[in-house]
Amino acid sequence: MSAFTPPPLPSDDKRWKIVNGTMRKNGFARHALIETLHSVQSSFGYLDDDAIRFVAQSLRVPLSQAYGVVTFYHYFSLKPPGKHTATVCAGTACYIKGAAKLIATAEKRLGICQGQTTSDGQISLMTARCVGACSRAPVVLCDDEVVGEMTDEQMIGQLERWAVE
Ligand code: FES
Repeated sequence: MSAFTPPPLPSDDKRWKIVNGTMRKNGFARHALIETLHSVQSSFGYLDDDAIRFVAQSLRVPLSQAYGVVTFYHYFSLKPPGKHTATVCAGTACYIKGAAKLIATAEKRLGICQGQTTSDGQISLMTARCVGACSRAPVVLCDDEVVGEMTDEQMIGQLERWAVE
């Protein structure tokens, strides 16, 4: 049996080196599939067809299996994130203080479900576990700014500003 040669990196983008490093550290073994897809998601913010194909070929798993993983876990996204991202903390403290209502308000205002991006690519709505600011619950990360004690009105105001920015 001839030695396996992994496919070349899809581009010079340094982030592929991170992804490749994850596979190399696991000896390009099949069990590294989820960890590697995770590495693509956290490096690029989403996984496109080329990325999934590259990972599947590198780890010698069927393409259908790689797609199966990506579509099964809510964490993975097949679309690039929006220009802006509202990440509602859905940890216990924030949940008690109304995170579910904030999520519902944002979903209604944007016409999307959590985990999705508006069709114009402006805004993504995400949720996270505790972001470490429980005393200010409910907390929303507006891009990378932590906003505590968020109200429905503030949430709508933020989304409206982003819709045109
Ligand atoms: S539960 Fe939301 S910041 Fe801790």
